[in-house]
Amino acid sequence: MMKNYDIDIDGAGPGGYVAAIKAAQLGAKVALIEKEYIGGVCLNIGCIPTKSLIKSAKVYKDIINGDNYGIDVDVSSVKPNMKKIVNRKNGIVNKLTSGVKFLLEKNGVKVFNGYGSVKDNNTVIVGEDILTTENIIIATGASPIIPPIPGVKEAYSNNVLMTSKEALSLSEIPQKLAIIGGGVIGIEFASIYSNLGTEVTILERLDNILVNVDDEIRDTLLKTLKKNKVKIITKANVSSINDKEITYQLEGKDTLIKVDKILLAVGMKPNVEDFKHLNLDITKQGINVNDKMETNIKGIYAIGDVTGKIMLAHVASSQGIVAVENIMGKVKQMDYSKIPSCIYGYPEIAMIGITEQTAKNQNLDYKVSKFPVAASGKALADGEFEGFIKIIVDKEYGELLGMHIIASNATELISEGIMTMELEGTVFDMAKAVH
Ligand code: NAI
Repeated sequence: MMKNYDIDIDGAGPGGYVAAIKAAQLGAKVALIEKEYIGGVCLNIGCIPTKSLIKSAKVYKDIINGDNYGIDVDVSSVKPNMKKIVNRKNGIVNKLTSGVKFLLEKNGVKVFNGYGSVKDNNTVIVGEDILTTENIIIATGASPIIPPIPGVKEAYSNNVLMTSKEALSLSEIPQKLAIIGGGVIGIEFASIYSNLGTEVTILERLDNILVNVDDEIRDTLLKTLKKNKVKIITKANVSSINDKEITYQLEGKDTLIKVDKILLAVGMKPNVEDFKHLNLDITKQGINVNDKMETNIKGIYAIGDVTGKIMLAHVASSQGIVAVENIMGKVKQMDYSKIPSCIYGYPEIAMIGITEQTAKNQNLDYKVSKFPVAASGKALADGEFEGFIKIIVDKEYGELLGMHIIASNATELISEGIMTMELEGTVFDMAKAVH
């Protein structure tokens, strides 16, 4: 059946569904097409389920450390139950995705559950339906990179090797877990499973984990990971996988380790395959867009991970709003200079703006200030006193250039830095504000 829309959005993740609701609110007739999950990776097999597992692992850890808070605990009888942990996670995901479905409906967005095939810049086909449209927003996200390591595919089909998707729904806690890739996913899952009692080994190809994180923050995280007995092997070149055995080369020497499960987390690649016939400008990074989220084809926009700009849910949502506002006649541009990012390990890490290393490399006239969390009464009372807050400011005016936090509530605390930077505030403004 032929149907006409102002905007067709392909993909209902945090880019697509936010764009759809915004567009409908601005008066557009919107079709949102989704082949798998409303809410995308983030709500179903990414950010939200991860946070749910992180909380379960934290509760377990807090209970077994009950003695520190004056609670007598028979530690031998306290056990994490993976089935229940996964059920709780599924409940949260269902609640959230139902909420998103309700919001879409309430705002009058027409959702098509199916595979959206973009024929040209005015036509999208979903099953029997032919949707004609003025504008298309591509929001199809990204998928895990599967590197050509011998044995990877076999280990995946044997359920030994997993991506983050499967690692969120295990039926048992593995005794030994190897994580290939010391990036954000690697660290979050290392934190979850090491807290649940798993022996975790991270194999990272580069000479450091989390290469984009401030050096001092990383050093502190490394100490906590070590305390949790997470083994981190950097400069490790995984050469083959044979079911539960991984062989890696380190400084020319082969080493073999045996594990129960392997998590592969070596980055994501944009889902661009379905758009190659459109003459879009597509690079290895993703679909090329300008700051208004326009592609090289008039009327086609791209947002989120498929653009490969910064693969974060909140960036996708923000890009979605920018795309829609431009379509609806406003002039809006993305600014990537003030994007916060968070890593939900133990403790949490949150950051915005430049790192000290960048300030140094750019020869900026800057000043660094630090505050140890252990000096906060609230942190002491919480028993969560690891970490520090570090700010980088312009020496002349005190403008906030960067904020980096490693602390138990880092991902909430960073909001202060976000607002200050958005308002181009100074460290003096921050100090003057009564807290
Ligand atoms: P990533 O890019 O953060 O890290 C991948 C790591 O794997 C890098 O350290 C890289 O050097 C290493 N690596 C690459 N090939 C390797 C190999 N063959 N052997 C060993 N190590 C190898 O990617 P990740 O962790 O997969 O995450 C994917 C995306 O999802 C990222 O863009 C990340 O920012 C995002 N994400 C964000 C979260 C958050 O905001 N809290 C949580 C989880 C993911």
